Amino acid sequence: MEIDQQLNTIKLGELSFVPFISAAKIAERVQELGKLITADYQDKTPLIITILNGSFIFCSDLVRAVDMDCEVQFMKVSSYEGTTSTGKMTAVFDTLPELAGRDVIIIEDIVDQGHTINYLHQLYLAKKPNSLRIASLLLKPDAYRYEHPIDYLGFKIPNDFVVGYGLDYNQMGRNLPAIYTLKI
Ligand code: IMP
Ligand code: MG
Repeated sequence: MEIDQQLNTIKLGELSFVPFISAAKIAERVQELGKLITADYQDKTPLIITILNGSFIFCSDLVRAVDMDCEVQFMKVSSYEGTTSTGKMTAVFDTLPELAGRDVIIIEDIVDQGHTINYLHQLYLAKKPNSLRIASLLLKPDAYRYEHPIDYLGFKIPNDFVVGYGLDYNQMGRNLPAIYTLKI
């Protein structure tokens, strides 16, 4: 990772990225989402399911902004090779307990076309949770192909590729504290 101080440009492989959402702005929004979740789940113990890898940073900040007992678990999904656009997903890792009767919140880093979140929503709904909601830091509304609302949304963003705060380009850039967008 190269940083050009003057232009504030970050280079990952052959691509350059410029600042898009600051760490301060993300932190402010995450606190707001934490308050919303806290208010909505009074007297409940939500089961928060974090979708790896991209959501690990968002989750770690969000759960610390949630002021109540909650359970945190992890799941990793992957698109079948070569068929990403069809949205054929498979679970490659999970630590999930019984979901029946639980109040489940799925945490995603970004909803793009929505195949991932749609797959998970169907998968978990079939396990008969008491409730099932989705939190995502980012949504690309112009790319999103499904109707299902994102219950706790950080930011709507244009249909451009972004990195940082957990999001990667070829596995790089996840550790950036802010979000950067592709420089054109
Ligand atoms: P979807 O299934 O089309 O909604 O895509 C969601 C997944 O694609 C996310 O969980 C990310 O892993 C990845 N993704 C989509 N857009 C971006 C982006 O702009 N930057 C980094 N990863 C992205
Ligand atoms: Mg992801």
